[in-house]
Amino acid sequence: MSDFHTIDIRTATIDDLAAIFHLGEKVFTSQAVPNLYRTWDEYEVTTLFNGDSELLLVAETQGKVVGFAIGTTIEKARSAWNYGHLLWLGIDPEYARMGVGSRLFDRFREDVASKGVRMLLVDTQADNKAALEFFHDKGFENPTAHVYMTLNLQKDT
Ligand SMILES: CC(C)(COP(=O)(O)OP(=O)(O)OC[C@H]1O[C@@H](n2cnc3c(N)ncnc32)[C@H](O)[C@@H]1OP(=O)(O)O)[C@@H](O)C(=O)NCCC(=O)NCCS
Repeated sequence: MSDFHTIDIRTATIDDLAAIFHLGEKVFTSQAVPNLYRTWDEYEVTTLFNGDSELLLVAETQGKVVGFAIGTTIEKARSAWNYGHLLWLGIDPEYARMGVGSRLFDRFREDVASKGVRMLLVDTQADNKAALEFFHDKGFENPTAHVYMTLNLQKDT
């Protein structure tokens, strides 16, 4: 395992996309995030990269991507506030609890703040204890429960 100090946080380039995608497959398994409204697939990565590639960050050590953060900014009608949404934060389990997520988040926060964002949003499964602890540690407040439901359109009514 690498020394913490050798981990570099930087904006992703197109050459990182495959590594990000494969690390996401490892981290965002259907068991770990069974009912996320967004699904992790290659289109998710490429679409977000095309949309706002400055908000796609990687943590790299010795040429290997060991974490990433992907977000976007949202302008709401009739609101003076610009919002940032951290959509995906994934750390290679071999590099967990080494502060990599924390460093990626801090950089993401700086980057969106420089774009005029005043409020950040994140969402995660209610039972994702690691993520809840992580975001709490980062100062997020007011966790609000949100219920997702499904309707099977193939079923006879
Ligand atoms: C949640 C996640 C991003 C944390 O990344 P990380 O690099 O391991 O986190 P850090 O080392 O920066 O931890 C910072 C703080 O967060 C909290 N934390 C992180 N992982 C934790 C865990 N498994 N259990 C409890 N608290 C945790 C701790 O307070 C920690 O500080 P400490 O180590 O000094 O106690 C990582 O576990 C992950 O990729 N999880 C799977 C994907 C996911 O759920 N992403 C978030 C929603 S998109």
